[in-house]
Amino acid sequence: MTQKEIIAHTVNYVKETLKDAEGGHDWFHIERVYKNSLLILKEEEADAFTVELGALLHDIADSKFHGGDETVGPKKAREFLESLGVDKSVIDHVENIIKYISFKGGNTKQNFRSPELNIVQDADRLDAIGAIGIARAFNYGGFKDRGLYDPAIEPKLNMTKEEYKKSTAPTINHFYEKLLLLKDRMNTESGKKIAEGRHNFMKQYLEQFYSEWNGKL
Ligand code: ADP
Ligand code: NI
Repeated sequence: MTQKEIIAHTVNYVKETLKDAEGGHDWFHIERVYKNSLLILKEEEADAFTVELGALLHDIADSKFHGGDETVGPKKAREFLESLGVDKSVIDHVENIIKYISFKGGNTKQNFRSPELNIVQDADRLDAIGAIGIARAFNYGGFKDRGLYDPAIEPKLNMTKEEYKKSTAPTINHFYEKLLLLKDRMNTESGKKIAEGRHNFMKQYLEQFYSEWNGKL
């Protein structure tokens, strides 16, 4: 199979697998991350085939829906790529991308890094900020039955994973707790540049939000 055919098969597989996925991690999220990856790839040195497969397969099984089991996604991706006869070195790499993309620190040491992982991680983070990021945050907040905003509830920085999971804070707090911090966590130069614009858009959005909240123009 050519690389092009492998990508086409992967697209079909991911679409089919995620057909009942929730809004935040559905096929359209994958498609946006894939497109963000291609945008970043234009200016970065990396193996495009690995980046494309990593982007397409990065959310193939969200651990939130597999009892917190973070090994399901990488394993599923491996089995799928093996069924297509993809080179072992590429499969190993894609598996690592999926394993480490949502690495959040904590107790485990991050022992894998590559230009390809950097790109897919940036592409995923870009989908959490800007206009799309705002929409996803309010969508998630609605799903969790959270309020939009409450001036009496201060954002909390540096929450532990547990506190973060249990938080019932309104969605605006999520901007300060996570979304506005992402710009400084980008790996690649082109990722940083794109993040800058989307970050500024969120800041402008928040100003407008408070202005309307307070009954101003
Ligand atoms: P990822 O898959 O990028 O690691 P999550 O599964 O944590 O992200 O979140 C999916 C989407 O939901 C993201 O756009 C994220 O910003 C949003 N989200 C996550 N937690 C919250 C929250 N507490 N309030 C509002 N939006 C949230
Ligand atoms: Ni994702």
